[in-house]
Amino acid sequence: MKTRKLRDITVSEIGIGCMGFSHGYGQIPPEDYSIEAIRKAYDYGCTFFDTAEAYSPNLQGIGHNERIVGKAVKDFRKDIVLATKLHIHTEEVGPDGVYPVIRRHLEASMERLGTDYVDLYYLHRLNLDIPVEEVAGAMGRLIDEGLIRGWGLSQVGVGTISAAQAVTPVSAVQNIYSMVERDVEKEVIPYCLENRIGVVPFSPIASGFLSGKITADTQFEKVDDVRNWVPQLKKENIIANQPILDVLADFSARKKATNAQISLAWMLHKYPNVVPIPGSKNQERILENLGASEVELTSEEFQALETALDACTVHGHRGFEEQQGGRMKDWDREKK
Ligand SMILES: NC(=O)c1ccc[n+]([C@@H]2O[C@H](COP(=O)([O-])OP(=O)(O)OC[C@H]3O[C@@H](n4cnc5c(N)ncnc54)[C@H](OP(=O)(O)O)[C@@H]3O)[C@@H](O)[C@H]2O)c1
Repeated sequence: MKTRKLRDITVSEIGIGCMGFSHGYGQIPPEDYSIEAIRKAYDYGCTFFDTAEAYSPNLQGIGHNERIVGKAVKDFRKDIVLATKLHIHTEEVGPDGVYPVIRRHLEASMERLGTDYVDLYYLHRLNLDIPVEEVAGAMGRLIDEGLIRGWGLSQVGVGTISAAQAVTPVSAVQNIYSMVERDVEKEVIPYCLENRIGVVPFSPIASGFLSGKITADTQFEKVDDVRNWVPQLKKENIIANQPILDVLADFSARKKATNAQISLAWMLHKYPNVVPIPGSKNQERILENLGASEVELTSEEFQALETALDACTVHGHRGFEEQQGGRMKDWDREKK
């Protein structure tokens, strides 16, 4: 598969989000199936795997997903880029500052991942009690010590990114981005392009909406399924956003591709520093999503798609700036 750079870290131009093997999209698959899925993705050419310490069933406990990913990649770990994330809770930070806290989280993640370094280590959510500059300083130390190759931030705006960047250059920003969540196009992506920072869109298929496989009658699972609160998956928004799916269906028919592939090919065409990490619990869909790398849009096709999308109003909005303990559930608060 073609590659891209997240600052100095080379990755396949599409990665996979591993969260669904542990959390967030209802019933999780048997572990053997998830491990096989990750290995099939690697065999296909994927070299970028995204996890987090918080991804565990029902967000109880910690590290379920990292353990699965670690087992899956053990035979090719050195050939891939492993990205994981941490939360820092205010009460963890003592007089020695944030460095020992981050190091403790990192060492626990490395043990679960079966590795002695992490390629890309993200702060999962900004904690407003802890200045991002301090986090950046600690991440810089971990880079100097060879424990991480680069670091990143998630769900942040340019003010936070630039404050962090001034202390330790940022490799990647992982914010929500898809055809129906485009706020990052205004400032975040231009800033990142200018500063050699990769943008790693999460939920690039809008939690499945853009695949066209979800209808207003789709019932989501009651437990541990984020689709119950994803704005575009509210019944009324699924109905109101149909024109976007019609645009996608038109292009997927023309390009003999699937809706999900077109939604990924669109962002790959639009920005050279964007590396989406679609998530799926299904082996066929994982390969389908990676196959978007082979869907080339010409400039004319891209422009026509862009114009058609611009003519649609998007219903339902989440936005990209979130803090720990804020509007969103505090992902690993219930651990241990
Ligand atoms: N930094 C953060 O705060 C944050 C937040 C959320 C997610 N993430 C990361 O980003 C990754 C991706 O995000 P996401 O999983 O929320 O969103 P996503 O990739 O937009 O969508 C995942 C959903 O779409 C469905 N889907 C995926 N590919 C499909 C296809 N080709 N056809 C039909 N349905 C398809 C999946 O169902 P099936 O499983 O049934 O295929 C799943 O329900 C996660 O795995 C995680 O690693 C990070």
